[in-house]
Amino acid sequence: MANHRLVGLGVDDIDTPAIVVDLDAMERNLTRMAAFAQRHGIRLRPHAKMHKSAVLAELQVRGGAVGVCVQKTSEAEALAAAGVNDIYISNEVIAPAKLRRVAALARTLSLREGGRLALAVDSVQGIQRLAEVLAGVLPDAAAVLDVFVEIDVGQGRCGVPPGDKAVALVQEIQLYPALRFAGLQAYHGRAQHLRSPAQRREVIARAVADVVTTRELIEAAGFTVPLVTGAGTGTFAQETASGVYGELQAGSYLFMDADYASNEPDAAQPVFEHALFIKSQVVSVRAGHAVCDAGHKSHAIDSGLPRVHALEGQPDLEYANGGDEHGLLRPAGVDDSLPMLGDTVWLIPGHCDPTVNLHDTMIGVRGGLEAGIVERVIRVDARGALT
Ligand SMILES: Cc1ncc(COP(=O)(O)O)c(C=O)c1O
Repeated sequence: MANHRLVGLGVDDIDTPAIVVDLDAMERNLTRMAAFAQRHGIRLRPHAKMHKSAVLAELQVRGGAVGVCVQKTSEAEALAAAGVNDIYISNEVIAPAKLRRVAALARTLSLREGGRLALAVDSVQGIQRLAEVLAGVLPDAAAVLDVFVEIDVGQGRCGVPPGDKAVALVQEIQLYPALRFAGLQAYHGRAQHLRSPAQRREVIARAVADVVTTRELIEAAGFTVPLVTGAGTGTFAQETASGVYGELQAGSYLFMDADYASNEPDAAQPVFEHALFIKSQVVSVRAGHAVCDAGHKSHAIDSGLPRVHALEGQPDLEYANGGDEHGLLRPAGVDDSLPMLGDTVWLIPGHCDPTVNLHDTMIGVRGGLEAGIVERVIRVDARGALT
């Protein structure tokens, strides 16, 4: 059945495997995060690379977010085409062909009310290439593209080291009227998944110190730093408490995956619920194990295998890798009962972002996984947007 025809039908009518979003849980997550940001007077720009959906981005914006982040030019294009106006590509873009797409998108968005595109940079060459392309595509325009200088606060990925190198990039940006220095990008990805709140606090305290040093150097060189942006679902309370960050980029809070659920909770952060599930069906039962129809074609396993989400009365099960199309289900507790042939088994994916990327649509259910009704089918607009 085409997915859009599911609207109004019950959970039982959803074919498997499929992504099912518990809309009630998702909206509670959205509201809790928005309330946190509002209470602390900090901007929220959730990372839409997680859900890749314009409808959900709009929901976040209606809930108080200032816009969204993405990682890829094509993600920005897909979301902009579906109506999202304020987008920050929190990543470096170097290829001239891609920079031309960035420039074209910057122009498109600048013509929309409240429209804006921003980009991260971490090299002089990157800035020069960007400015060159912008001069070709937007010869008369001034300050159409906001540029964030990325510093590496411990992630060990992109970004210049905190300190003088960042000052040099800020100085370079001033040479081009089509670019506006918008602030510092300072995201520590590895810190998000440190299990204890104390570890996360310690690592983010060092990141904050690096940001402060860099900001002071930039200010000493005569520039202001309009904004510091970063943070994810594991640490955003720490960046907020620092008073140094002005914007949070958390993304996964909306869906909450199994990996994030393994973090010991931080009392300073709101509690988020699992809202993203894979609905699967038992297709074979053997002595000692059952087999469901969801393998790693339906969920990513880079952050671990999915957890089985047992509903009331269902056996506790452990999921083991059964390959591309299958999952092996074994009893997890003292009770050694297995599901029956044809039973539904709900999985919580290890990592939400790459799981969503495996699906064209997500099926939004209202009223719970047991007896809920399909309310909307959510398109994954930026599915496969890798470039
Ligand atoms: C640059 C950047 N900011 C923010 C995030 C959001 O992190 P999370 O989805 O873990 O909240 C990510 C995720 O990888 C990221 O790469």
